[in-house]
This record gives sequence, structure tokens and C-alpha cells, in this order.
Amino acid sequence: MKVVIQKDYESMCEWAANHIIDAIKNHKEDRPFVLGLPTGSTPVGVYKNLIKANRDGKVSFMNVVTFNMDEYVGLPHDHDQSYWYFMHDNFFDHIDIPAENINILNGMAEDLEAECARYEDKIASYGGIDLFMGGCGVDGHIAFNEPYTSLTSRTGVRALTEDTRIVNSRFFGNDPEATPPTALSVGVGTVCDSREVLLLVNGHNKARALAHCIEGGVSSKWTISALQLHNNAVIACDDAACGELKLDTYNYFRDIYGEERL
Ligand code: GLP
Repeated sequence: MKVVIQKDYESMCEWAANHIIDAIKNHKEDRPFVLGLPTGSTPVGVYKNLIKANRDGKVSFMNVVTFNMDEYVGLPHDHDQSYWYFMHDNFFDHIDIPAENINILNGMAEDLEAECARYEDKIASYGGIDLFMGGCGVDGHIAFNEPYTSLTSRTGVRALTEDTRIVNSRFFGNDPEATPPTALSVGVGTVCDSREVLLLVNGHNKARALAHCIEGGVSSKWTISALQLHNNAVIACDDAACGELKLDTYNYFRDIYGEERL
């Protein structure tokens, strides 16, 4: 596991965007580059950097196919808190990606299980995901894989914990009851099947999750800890998120992947 520690949120986002741009540009195979994407406040700065790079002609998304991590059940596309709306508003509407290259789980599907199976099949039809970018919840969840979701789980229907509904209620008028209780989500196994996973973690409120992810054992209590078993996982984080790491751990990663030691 590679951990790249940046001083603040802005530098973390810049580093992550450049990493993605390099991956797209270095992709020489005769098939589209397949990119997995998250929602949430964390990736917004990365999307801003990617939009700018696209406008400046530094990267094109014409040959990129995307798969989003998750979607709330029961929110139509035009609901301003649906992840479909979020992704178009914050990213897709501002870059040169063809609409048919965008894949987002449909939380309004009549048969939700069939929708999840279709999604897995479609990912497989492209030969899998080249790079999956993700964020994490304060309880260490990746996508909507709450604590104790199997680390080999596939795309499926997920019940959200009360904690997650409380945290996400900031987007639903601060009312946890108005926050959808169910979502569709790629599985931890789906994410880990990707050729590369890039996890973004910033801020003091994620420090406990990051410590469990890096220093704790692999456990479904902290689903992001599954990345310890991935042979090409990169965590891009800021200093604030490192607040609960041991000094030794912090210095180790600064030594190998950063510019300075404390
Ligand atoms: C939601 C999403 C996750 C995201 C998490 C953290 O639960 N399903 O994919 O990582 O929120 O969001 P934020 O980046 O706003 O802290």
C-alpha cells in the first residue's frame, strides 16, 4: 500500500488529479480507459482539477468509460441529491466525455438486484476497471459498504447505518429521516478487482478511519482496510487525516513517498 501525504486538501486533490491524468495518458491499449468514480465532498477538488486540465487540453475523456460507485435508492436523476445529478453537475457536464460512456447505478430500477447484476456484467464487458478512485466515510466505509459488509462483496443493495444517514443528512436539510435509508453500491470486492485503487482521505474527521485502514488488521469492521490486500492501492491524504497515525507510520510514508520527515 502506498500512502502519499500532502499538506492540505488542495495539494491532495492536485496530486490525485495529476495521478489520474497520467494513468489516462499512459493507457496505450486498444480499448477505453475504465475509471471508477466516487461522490461526496472529498473528490470535488479532484473533479475541479480534472475539468481545468480538460479545458486546458492536457487530458481528454473521449476514450474514457466511467462507473460510479453508488446511488441512493428512490431518487430520480433530476433530484439535486441524487448521485447522477451530483456527477453531472460537478464533473460530466464540464468535460468532453461522451454521454454513452457514463455508467451510474439506477436507484429507480424496478428490479434492484437485476440492476446490480447488470452493472457487474457491464464492468466485466469492458475488461474490468483500470483505476477506481474512492473516498471513505468516518466509519471507514468505501462506496456504501458499511461496517461488516463482506470484503468480497459485489454490487448490491445496501442498508445505510443510522450514523451514515446522520452524516449525510447535511445534504437533506439536516434531517436524517429525509436521508434515503437504502442505496445501490459496488462491493468491496468490485473495487478491489480494479487494477488500481486510489483512495482519498482528508480532514480530522477521517483520522480514525485512516489509522484503521493503514495500521489496523484487515477487517470488515473498517471496509477500507481491504486495500491492504490490494497489490496496487494508493492512499492520497492530507496532514489532518494523519492525526491518529503513529509517528513512525507517518515518518515511514513521508520518507518513501514524501519530501520531508518530522
Ligand atoms: C458517502 C458515499 C461515499 C463517500 C462518503 C464520504 O457515504 N457513499 O462514497 O466516500 O460519503 O463522503 P465525504 O467525501 O463527503 O466525506
